[in-house]
Amino acid sequence: MTELEKLCAEMALCRDCDLAKTRNKVVPGEGREDAKIVFIGEAPGWHENQQGRPFVGPAGHFLEDLLGSIGLQRQDVYICNVVKCRPPENRDPFPLEIRSCAQWLDQQLELINPKVIVTLGRYSMARFFPGESIGKIHGTARKVGEITCFAMYHPAAALHQQSLRKVIEADMLKLPGILAELERAQQSTQREEIPPKQLSLF
Ligand code: URA
Repeated sequence: MTELEKLCAEMALCRDCDLAKTRNKVVPGEGREDAKIVFIGEAPGWHENQQGRPFVGPAGHFLEDLLGSIGLQRQDVYICNVVKCRPPENRDPFPLEIRSCAQWLDQQLELINPKVIVTLGRYSMARFFPGESIGKIHGTARKVGEITCFAMYHPAAALHQQSLRKVIEADMLKLPGILAELERAQQSTQREEIPPKQLSLF
């Protein structure tokens, strides 16, 4: 079992907040353990609570389309949520629930160590861009410690508000450029770190 699998197994037993009383299945997250990009949503909905997998309902189908638009499939990235259990009736998660679940997301990110975190929606954004508004910062990236964070609207927002669809689609198309830029920068840093060969005396 990998460290991440062990962590997800531990999460499945979590009873740290009251969502444990009403959930059907914990939804730890899934995808590549060495993913360069991690997508973080809000909390599981009805479908996710049934299956124990993130983004498998209508919002998930749209997320898959968005990934497809940049040549990726869900198994190429890691997908998870800020809160790992479904809030009853799909209400917004309470601050206490977000706080008690934070340790799981922290550990996931430490193990995966992605280059880019994509926040989907307000709750995930609040974690990495505190005090910001999604209307202002969607489609922009910022370094938080070592990791680049990129804010997007939640895919479900496009299902309720058709006008947001194009905005979300356009934001997603910026992602490959951001990743490529990061990799270029990293390669040139690595090149600088290689000590110059000693000159031969003859
Ligand atoms: N919405 C989310 O934020 N996460 C899911 O897993 C599904 C819908």
